[in-house]
Amino acid sequence: MVNHKNKVLVLYAHPSPRRSEVNTPMYQDACDIEGVTIIDLYAEYPTYHINIDIEQQRLLEHDVIIFQFPLYWYSTPSILKEWQDLVLEYGFAYGQEGTALVGKPFLCAISAGGKAEAYQTDGYNHFTIRELLQPLEQMANLTGLIYLPPLVLFGSRTAKEEDRIGEHRRQWQSLLRALVNDEFDVQAARPLEKLNHYWLNDSEQPL
Ligand SMILES: Cc1cc2nc3c(=O)[nH]c(=O)nc-3n(C[C@H](O)[C@H](O)[C@H](O)COP(=O)(O)O)c2cc1C
Repeated sequence: MVNHKNKVLVLYAHPSPRRSEVNTPMYQDACDIEGVTIIDLYAEYPTYHINIDIEQQRLLEHDVIIFQFPLYWYSTPSILKEWQDLVLEYGFAYGQEGTALVGKPFLCAISAGGKAEAYQTDGYNHFTIRELLQPLEQMANLTGLIYLPPLVLFGSRTAKEEDRIGEHRRQWQSLLRALVNDEFDVQAARPLEKLNHYWLNDSEQPL
């Protein structure tokens, strides 16, 4: 039997997964990887009554925390905000006694309808994806999570016809396996704009 070194928790938030072309296959990928627990928040809490004790227990039992979601209004779908508001309590996630999350890597796996070039200072959306995610980065800083850059698929609504979903899923699967097997170089990944660059050779130019 394989001895997994890390338990990875994926908190998945998609309000309409049956219409999803990107996130639903990624959800299925995560389900198939031993050592990964994936929680479909909209399925589990259709009325938004999040069970704080269960969610805090899940956090305690896992070594790596991932939010997986389609970008909605430059942020997470609302249930992930509700989850943060309720679960990341004083005395659990922050404050003098609130050390439950200290030292655990944290990242976002995101799909965005906008194209990569739109997420630039001089582009259509004016901000990079790392800039837009700063509230989550600072949540991580405050709670002691180790913030990693996001894994992002831009141009998600044309990704299927452009045959780009397969490569993204391969990176997602590689990422999850590397995290489970403690083979992911967290320090090398931290300064990247997005985790997609982690797999580039030195000679390749980031997009
Ligand atoms: C309510 C709503 C808000 C959205 N906001 C954004 C946004 O701020 N930026 C963006 O690039 N795409 C935005 N999109 C597009 C989604 O990110 C896109 O549909 C999703 O990534 C596709 O993934 P899926 O195939 O898994 O559903 C939004 C879509 C919806 C329905």
